[in-house]
Amino acid sequence: MSATSQRVVVITGASSGIGRETARHFAAQGAAVVLAARGEPALHATAEEVTRAGGTALVVPTDVAVWPQVEHLAKSTREHFGRIDVWVNNAAVSGYGELNTMPVEAIHRILDVDLRGHVYGVKAVLPILREQGHGAIIGVSSGLGVRAVPLMIPYCIAKSGVNALYEGLRLEERRARSGVRITTILPASIDTPFYDSARSWMGVRPAPIPPVYQPKAVAEAVVFAADHPRRDIYIGAAAQLAMVQRISPALTDRLLALGGQVFTRQQRDEPDRGQSNLTEPTPGDGAVDGGVVRFALPRSRWTRLVGFHPALARSAAIASVGTIGWRLARRGPARPR
Ligand SMILES: NC(=O)c1ccc[n+]([C@@H]2O[C@H](COP(=O)([O-])OP(=O)(O)OC[C@H]3O[C@@H](n4cnc5c(N)ncnc54)[C@H](OP(=O)(O)O)[C@@H]3O)[C@@H](O)[C@H]2O)c1
Repeated sequence: MSATSQRVVVITGASSGIGRETARHFAAQGAAVVLAARGEPALHATAEEVTRAGGTALVVPTDVAVWPQVEHLAKSTREHFGRIDVWVNNAAVSGYGELNTMPVEAIHRILDVDLRGHVYGVKAVLPILREQGHGAIIGVSSGLGVRAVPLMIPYCIAKSGVNALYEGLRLEERRARSGVRITTILPASIDTPFYDSARSWMGVRPAPIPPVYQPKAVAEAVVFAADHPRRDIYIGAAAQLAMVQRISPALTDRLLALGGQVFTRQQRDEPDRGQSNLTEPTPGDGAVDGGVVRFALPRSRWTRLVGFHPALARSAAIASVGTIGWRLARRGPARPR
């Protein structure tokens, strides 16, 4: 495939976990993948994987919380490849502990990377996509942006803001008939290095709330969204969490707090060693998998059935309600005994 006909995809947070797996998936389709994150050794290791998988890689070291660097990421991609087809806002950091124990500087940093980073990404790429008259922006948010949990409140605030960003933007782009399509991805817990890199103020290392899925469950959804934009795509149990939250936030409070589980499940039986990727990248070549759980589900059936085919799911729901209604009507009113 020539450089001009290649799909051009920019991924932030491409050096680890979901972003890195997504880069490999796009590469397998022969895409040109622009890899953005802070840690250069891990970015170059990812670039080698992209090339091996059949794609073309361009490494652009970027801190998404710094506007001139994000602007440079968009401009240099366009200079190099002539256009941008897909922009994936994926980079994030986190910190674990009660809000009371978190330093204000750490809270600022989480909000800067996880929320401001998405806004900067959109601001940098949107003029280019509008000028082209086409393009996809895919925002990797989280189920925790729909329903917050304790011990990672700043992260949840950022993800909730990210959801608002894409909700508003989707309507602006529709009204402008810009040809720019927006999809929000809302994963449940994923087994990535996230839980080893995050800062902890709990005295122990953080753990993902089960069930936990493999990074490819999210990567598949991002690649799907590049061709089939959807309003949002939930990955795994995040969908059920959002549904219960919509029905009754108070019931969700109770379910999460049952036996203190939402606290204990987020704590690993392993002392904290003080690691943190808040202001510096994790050293080394990085990885896709975290290895923090013994078994991670390879994919989410919910995502494949409902996330990828929302209209089908809606029709199925309407048909089931209709069938139940018809059956009840046929039975007629209950007779007094
Ligand atoms: N893992 C989960 O359970 C889970 C669940 C729901 C949603 N998500 C979301 O999925 C996305 C990917 O997370 P992940 O699990 O793959 O985490 P990860 O393995 O820790 O990867 C995070 C990536 O973001 C990059 N990054 C961090 N700070 C950055 C900054 N300031 N500027 C640029 N890049 C930065 C990291 O590279 P450097 O450190 O080298 O910069 C790394 O490439 C995030 O948006 C996360 O919120 C994850």
